[in-house]
Order: sequence, then structure tokens, then C-alpha cells
Amino acid sequence: MKTKHRSTISFYLNGTLQNVGPDQARLMLADYLRETKRLTGTKIVCAEGDCGACSVLRLQPPLSRSKRSTRYLAINSCITTVAQMDGSNLVTVDALATSPTQLSPIQKSMMDAHGSQCGFCTPGFVVAMTGLVEKKLCSGMKKGSCSSKEAMNAMTGNLCRCTGYQPIVDAATQIDLSQCKSLSDRFANKTQVATLSKLIKTPVQFQNQQFSFYAPTKISDAVKYLAKNREARLLGAGTDLGVVHNKGKIELVHALSLHLIPELYQLKASGKRMKVGARVTLAELRDATKKPIPEFSRFLDLFASPQIKNVATLIGNIGNASPIADTPPFLLVANSVLHLVGPKGKRKISIDQYYVGYRKTALKPGEFITAIEFDIPTQHEKLKLYKASQRKDLDISAMNAGLRVQWTGQSIKEIKIALGGVAATPVRLKKTETFLKGKNISKQPQLLEQAM
Ligand code: FES
Ligand code: FES
Repeated sequence: MKTKHRSTISFYLNGTLQNVGPDQARLMLADYLRETKRLTGTKIVCAEGDCGACSVLRLQPPLSRSKRSTRYLAINSCITTVAQMDGSNLVTVDALATSPTQLSPIQKSMMDAHGSQCGFCTPGFVVAMTGLVEKKLCSGMKKGSCSSKEAMNAMTGNLCRCTGYQPIVDAATQIDLSQCKSLSDRFANKTQVATLSKLIKTPVQFQNQQFSFYAPTKISDAVKYLAKNREARLLGAGTDLGVVHNKGKIELVHALSLHLIPELYQLKASGKRMKVGARVTLAELRDATKKPIPEFSRFLDLFASPQIKNVATLIGNIGNASPIADTPPFLLVANSVLHLVGPKGKRKISIDQYYVGYRKTALKPGEFITAIEFDIPTQHEKLKLYKASQRKDLDISAMNAGLRVQWTGQSIKEIKIALGGVAATPVRLKKTETFLKGKNISKQPQLLEQAM
């Protein structure tokens, strides 16, 4: 029997269902909002995911079962296509006012604290603050306020060139939570969730002369499609692809999206290993590793902006084999194994075998990564992750490092060291590891110098 397909993607925008075909689906979301829908509250400034002016709030398709995915999260609309919004529920700054004459408590606080001058950044800040308030409300906090630390963390992905940040942070801390109503209550009623839940069970396929798009609901269908359409680009979060596209370096004309495949959202920790599906976001991973791998969770805090982390994935971070990607040093010292699928079936490879050259991987034509699994270091091991960059937040690494050590007293029982940004690929320092193994640091003070 032939599989039925949808010929449009569907999502809710400020409470109204949108069914969008190829002409509009290929646009960047920010352009669609401003040009097609005339929702000009959302601004475009950098168009590369750095400034947050284009932030909108998104409730993910009801596929993932994690707690995070059941609340509205701020994302950048300048580097994501409309097609990727299939199954989502979106709210823009234009809809935040509670009535035509009444600002939301967050907007009012921004005004009262004098948090805006030219106003280009203001909608993005209001959206980021709304995301923070939403987090508080969804965690059951119905009164009180946000701390300045929480406000600063939530607004790491927003830049302002005129106001100075203090009035903006003040605005966030002065919001009275008891006056705020959750976006889920305002915009995502049961009928909408039920409509989307039904729609996302059917694959999407459409094309016109400028854009072909396919989103299957099964991995096997994705494999078959890639085998026949080698030119199709695998579209994940697209946070890299969106930037390159906006700079005019590539044109996204043929995309295969995996967003409707439920098993890619799996995140499991069993015993000594954790397995992370290709669609698990870095924000979900940061939360999930907080207890079992606190050092990795802390490290993910420094990784990109909240808007990026709310969509970007761990698999995406290793997908283009960049030598300065932030997570490979951890993945290398954590004995990671990649789960691959392709025309010849499934296979697993160690991350040591994955990088084969500058931005080159061991993936065969038509193959892609479905999940990655790695060790959860034991209590007897010390894990340390480092990143050197010009700014602490929101910057790419000049170099980065991962160290995992098991001690017996003062002696090194086992050690794994990995570096990024020092060679064409992220590397394990196996010779140095062998040199250090079994040595007693307190008895040989010159040891570390020799190792270096
Ligand atoms: Fe700057 Fe989108 S316009 S992040
Ligand atoms: Fe002008 Fe922030 S008010 S950029």
C-alpha cells in the first residue's frame, strides 16, 4: 500500500493553524514572519544566530516526551526554515500583549525599567524574558520573581548596542510572576495539541522548481530516500546550515528532515552508558546530564546561546567534523560509539574512527547518525572539560580539551586526554596517556612538564 503524504507542513502561529507549501516553507522563518505574515515585531539584525533580535517562542512537535519539550522555548527565527516548524506551536512578540491596549507584564516591566532605546533588540529581549518566565511558571512557581543570575543566563543570546544591560536585567527581575499567565494556557489548547499530534503521524513530501522537501516518519524511509536522492541535505536543527545559507554560500533546494521520526528523540541512561538520539537538543542534554555527568552539563552551559541550545543537537555538533566543535573532546574521552544507518543497514563505529580528516568523516554515501552513546564516568573518576575562547559565553573555541582520570592514591591508574583545535580533527593524545599511566605525580613533580 502506498504511504499517504501531507503536501504542506503545518504549525500554529499565534494561535492560528498555518498550512504552508514549498513557496513559503523554503523561506527563513524570520523572513516569512515579516514579509508574508507582516508580523514585523520580530527583527532581523545579524541573520546568523548571534544577536537574538529575531527570537520567537516555540513549543516543539508533540513527539518528544521530555519535560523541556512541553513548554515554549526561545529560538532564533533567522537561521531556521519555515519547513522546520512543522508540528510546532509558535508565538511571536506581536501576540504577547494581553489585549490591544494592554502590554504583557514582561513588556510593561521592560518599559518601566527603561530597558529600550532604539528598540531593535527589544522584541528579542522580551521574548527571551518570556521564555524564562515560562520556565518558572511551568516548574510550578506562580509568584515571586526571577533572579538577576537567571535573567542574565536567559538573555545570554541577546545583544543590545544602546541601552546597556543593567536596565534590561532590572526589567527581568522586576517582573511579578503572579501577574503572568503561561503561554501554554494562552496559545496551546488541547484541540491544537490534538490536531498537531494527528498531523505529525503522516510524512510530508512536496516540491516545486525551487524547493524539494521530504520528512518521513520512519528511519527506513529516510534511508531509501537518501539512497535515491544523494543531493538532498539532511536537515537537523540547521543552525550551521542556516548561517551558511544566509551568507549566500549555499542554497537550500533539497532537504530531508528527520523531525517526524520518534525514536530519534530518545535519551536513555542505563547503568554506565548514556544514549542520545539524533534529535535530542543540547538544552535537553544539559538538563539530563546535570546529575550523572555534572562536568559535561556545566560545559554545555557555556555552549552557544539558549536560543541555539533549544534546537541544536549533539549529533549536529559532530556532523560537520569541525576540529573546534565543543563536544568532541568529551565524546573522545567518554568512549563514544556512533550508531549509523545507511543503504547497507545499521552499523556502529567508535568516535576514534569517525574523524578521518579536516571536516571529513567515515560516513559512507547515504549513511547518517541516528544516535550516540557514551560512558557516564564513575565516582572514582575525575572528568574535566576546558574551552579557550575570547569571550566566556557565546563564542567558538580557539581550542578545547577533555581529561578523564582514574586515580589510585596519587598514581594515575587510567587517563584519557583529548584536544580540539590543535589539528585537522579532534584528537586523543594516546602517547601522552601511555606516558602518564601508572605514574605517581607527587613523587615526580616534573612529570606534567614532560607530558606536555
Ligand atoms: Fe541576530 Fe537572528 S537576527 S540572531
Ligand atoms: Fe538599541 Fe538595544 S535598544 S540595540
